[in-house]
Amino acid sequence: MTLSSSDPGRDCPLCPRLVAFREEWRARQPDWNNAPVPSFGVDDGRLLIVGLAPGLRGANRTGRPFTGDYAGDLLYQTMIEFGFARGVFEARPDDSLTPIDTAITNAVRCVPPENKPTTDEIRTCRPYLGATIDGMPRLRAILALGKIAHDSIVVALGEKMARRKFAHGAHHNIGSLTVFDSYHCSRYNTNTGVLTTDMFRSVFSDMREFLDADPR
Ligand code: URA
Repeated sequence: MTLSSSDPGRDCPLCPRLVAFREEWRARQPDWNNAPVPSFGVDDGRLLIVGLAPGLRGANRTGRPFTGDYAGDLLYQTMIEFGFARGVFEARPDDSLTPIDTAITNAVRCVPPENKPTTDEIRTCRPYLGATIDGMPRLRAILALGKIAHDSIVVALGEKMARRKFAHGAHHNIGSLTVFDSYHCSRYNTNTGVLTTDMFRSVFSDMREFLDADPR
């Protein structure tokens, strides 16, 4: 992705708790990314996939969304299956995985302790999500992975959260965009059966059909 203005700088100072966590991990693991994880993919793509936040030992380590995180295995495999990526996903930023017509980002760009960003941190990072959306001129669809991503997207698009409730498999037309909802493809959700592979594939199938029917 070349839209660096939609990404926070490596030393973004905006969330004190996340800065302290980042500094702690810079000292512990100097070879890791340990910085806001930039969006990855095609900036003139028609699909934007929005996760929650980088995983500590995954995207926070590798510097690419969902790369090294358990959730990335299902996400990238499903993207390939439905024609939203090609190549081989090897959980490294220098693998051959290449998004097609798609960019991937997170509602919160820095790794939060225990994978739980606060409401303030989600709000503080939202302008970057808004800038990513605004920086994709051909954007038609957004996939929200989980309720936090859904709520932040809805607000970034200028809608009231209360009017647009998250529901797995639902979609919401907001302005010129359609937001598709899925439970997050986290290890917890897949291990507990909250999200099955077929449930996830079904959302991708809906998005494929939607974009294939789109005249633009
Ligand atoms: N890794 C990410 O980059 N985002 C998530 O939401 C989960 C893991």
